[in-house]
Amino acid sequence: MTFSLNSFPPGGHAVVIGSSGGIGAAFVDALEASGRFDAVIGLSRRTDPPLDLLDEASIETAAAFVKKQGALRLVVDATGILSDEKMSPEKALRQIDPAQMARSYAINAIGPALLLKHFGPAMAREGKSVFATLSAKVGSISDNGLGGWISYRAAKAGLNQIVRTASIELGRRAPELVVLALHPGTVDTGLSKPFAKAGLDVQPPPVAVARLLSVVEGADASQTGGFVSYTGERLPW
Ligand SMILES: NC(=O)c1ccc[n+]([C@@H]2O[C@H](COP(=O)([O-])OP(=O)(O)OC[C@H]3O[C@@H](n4cnc5c(N)ncnc54)[C@H](OP(=O)(O)O)[C@@H]3O)[C@@H](O)[C@H]2O)c1
Repeated sequence: MTFSLNSFPPGGHAVVIGSSGGIGAAFVDALEASGRFDAVIGLSRRTDPPLDLLDEASIETAAAFVKKQGALRLVVDATGILSDEKMSPEKALRQIDPAQMARSYAINAIGPALLLKHFGPAMAREGKSVFATLSAKVGSISDNGLGGWISYRAAKAGLNQIVRTASIELGRRAPELVVLALHPGTVDTGLSKPFAKAGLDVQPPPVAVARLLSVVEGADASQTGGFVSYTGERLPW
C-alpha cells in the first residue's frame, strides 16, 4: 500500500507516542520512509525522554523536548490498553472492577487528554497539521449492539469526546489543525492477539498504518474533531 503526505507543508517534525507498540512502531517506520518530515520522533516509556501516560510530568518534559526541535506538523498517539496480566475486558456487569476501570480510563482517555494538553499548543500554527489519536469503533455508542468490554468502550467513548472538545479550542489558535480520533480496524498486535477470532479481517500493522496515513492525508480542518475509520468513513458517535 502506498500513501503520500503531500498535503503537509514540507519539513517540520512528526511525533509518534506509543512507538513501542505494534501500530506505533509501524507508524515510525512509515513516516521515516516517507521522508516528508525533517525528523520523526518516537516516544514511549522506554525512550529518552520517557513518556508515561500515568505521569503527567513525563508528558510535560517530553512535549518541551519536542517543541525545542521545531515546528510540529504531525502527532500520532498510538497508545492504549485493552488487557494485561491484571485486567481483561468484561463480558458481564458482574466483572466490573473499579480499580481496573479507572486504569482503563487513565490510559485510554485521561492519558490522551494530557497529550492534547501538552502537545496541542506545540502544533504548527500555520499550514496543515494533524493530531491523531487511536480510538476504536467499539467506543461508538450508537454502533454498540453487542455489549461487553464496558471499561474499554466507555474510555474510548470518553476519548472521542475529549478529541472533539480539544479540537474546538486548539482550532482557535491553529485554524488548519486537524484533530482526529481514528479507528485502525483490527490489526495484528499484542493488543488484539488474545481476542483474535477466525474469519476476522486482521491487518498487518504496515497495511493498517498506510490506510490511516491516507486518511490523515485526505483530512482537512473541516473534519477536525471527527471519529474516522481507516477506510475514511466517518463513524457515528
Ligand atoms: N490492534 C487492534 O486491533 C486495535 C483495534 C482498535 C483500536 N486499537 C487501538 O490502537 C492503539 C494501539 O494499539 P496496538 O494494537 O498497537 O497495541 P499495543 O501493541 O499493545 O501498543 C500499545 C502502546 O500503548 C503504550 N502504553 C500503554 N500504557 C502506557 C502508558 N502508561 N504510558 C505510555 N504508553 C503506554 C504501550 O507502551 P509499552 O510498550 O511501554 O507498554 C504501547 O506502545 C490503542 O489505542 C488501541 O486501543 C487497536
